[in-house]
Amino acid sequence: MTTKDRQLSVNRRPFNEGVLTTDQGIPVQDTDNSLRAGARGPSLLEDFHLREKIMRFDHERIPERVVHARGTGAHGVFKVYEPLDEYTTADFLTDPDAETPVFVRFSTVQGSRGSSDTPRDVRGFATKFYTRQGNFDLVGNNMPVFFIQDGIKFPDLVHALKPEPQNEMPQAASAHDSFWDFVTLQPETMHHVIWLMSDRAIPRSFRMMQGFGVHTFRLVNGQGRSTFVKFHWTPVLGTHSLVWDEAQKIAGKDPDYNRRDLWEAINSGQFPSWELGLQLIPENRAFEFEDIDILDPTKIIPEELVPVTPVGRLTLNRNPDNFFAETEQVAFCVGNVVPGIDFTDDPLLQARLFSYLDTQLNRFGGANFFQLPINRAIAPIRNHQQDGFQQHEVPVGRANYFPNSLGGDQPTPAGPAGFVHYPEHVDGPKERKRSETFADHYSQATLFWNSMSSWEKEHIIAAYRFELGKVESMPIRVRLVEHLNRVDHDLAIAVALGIGVEEPVKSIDNHGRSSPALSQANSQRESVL
Ligand code: HEM
Repeated sequence: MTTKDRQLSVNRRPFNEGVLTTDQGIPVQDTDNSLRAGARGPSLLEDFHLREKIMRFDHERIPERVVHARGTGAHGVFKVYEPLDEYTTADFLTDPDAETPVFVRFSTVQGSRGSSDTPRDVRGFATKFYTRQGNFDLVGNNMPVFFIQDGIKFPDLVHALKPEPQNEMPQAASAHDSFWDFVTLQPETMHHVIWLMSDRAIPRSFRMMQGFGVHTFRLVNGQGRSTFVKFHWTPVLGTHSLVWDEAQKIAGKDPDYNRRDLWEAINSGQFPSWELGLQLIPENRAFEFEDIDILDPTKIIPEELVPVTPVGRLTLNRNPDNFFAETEQVAFCVGNVVPGIDFTDDPLLQARLFSYLDTQLNRFGGANFFQLPINRAIAPIRNHQQDGFQQHEVPVGRANYFPNSLGGDQPTPAGPAGFVHYPEHVDGPKERKRSETFADHYSQATLFWNSMSSWEKEHIIAAYRFELGKVESMPIRVRLVEHLNRVDHDLAIAVALGIGVEEPVKSIDNHGRSSPALSQANSQRESVL
């Protein structure tokens, strides 16, 4: 039994092991009738079993995740093929003999916890590696880019994407005015939006879905040399999607379609697996890519420029024992990194570093959720934190401070074993400003469109028509067509024809040309600001 399995089994409580008891361990004699003064008389307050049973029911719910509320998870293992110590000191990436336990949670983004599995939406692909050096969380999605470049726009994006505040409609991820209003006023979204209109947004199975870390991260080796890295998960079963008609019907007939598929495959021993691939970019190549800033999360780095090197294998081989204890209570955080992996200055990533722990303090009502079996590191935890709601540990001794001479833990001396932040040189005026190198919002949407086969293009056109067909505001429809005209003229015409918008004239300069509706929208924005 691995350390992780041992941790998970400590609190395991089978439902069929003997007599029913109260939470205090007192055997229950009757759970069908409350204590009454006479068979037809009033119930008595002293009935502790009734009170406890109702009280526990009343308190069963915790807040669902503010995004990615619907998900499903599984346990597994990760193994690296060859030592990667040329790039990193991360133990789980340098020891091919190490079998690192993992927990993976797949999710949709927009819907609530009880929503269906097959809406047109981004899917989360979050992996917790329980490494011997502590937990590393790779909190990724099934699309390699994100809607926005700066985390300060995330609340706006999510408010626009979620059901509208006045009536909590619609439940559909993107088929409504506020989503299209926001994205057409925030053109950096255009690349991710065309992915969302493609079949990638309706995966056939979680087992057949890619995953991406999206941001550029850093690997740091034993000599302190940093290499930029992008993480890719490639499913061994290939990448497959539903078609829209199937997705809609399945949403009605079996809202648990993707969840059930994963559960049944694992239960029947058909363990899904993914290859981890890395795009590795030496520090001195960071500015080599024309029109792509590696810190811009709305851009990919094409594989022709930087190939994806396969480095290891993830296999999911065990379903959770309990959905709430594991899948619901798992807490991923982009900030959980181990020595040898570090962050970059991507402004979306930097905001995420704050958000996950902060939201989890709300979700779990305190700071001790790291002690839950599903979140607990297999590496020893020794620190001077104390108390708080739901403290399950019993710290023993006097010296919970540093420096100390009365017998307390000491920091790891700097070196390969301890975490050392990469000493990146930073210099610049304090200002709220987007880098000019983030300015191109259309080229990669065009690249994506051009990489599609004819039937994939048909699906994308049909998706824009369906989604925009639900948008009541004509100026929003017009704005979208004008953005699409910068992506591809034929795409813009095809969409325009399906949503009652006049055909746009051919764009001369795809990426810089201004159009009447866009300039009007921009000046409206500026006057509001
Ligand atoms: C979940 C915030 C961007 C992937 C969440 C949660 C929050 C959040 C608050 C709920 C966490 C919880 O309750 O445990 C943000 C912010 C972002 C951002 C502020 C931008 C500034 C992204 C991006 C990705 C991503 C770019 C993908 C690369 C995920 C995933 C989950 C998640 C997969 C679900 C984790 C799980 O299964 O529990 N995000 N997010 N997010 N986010 Fe983000």
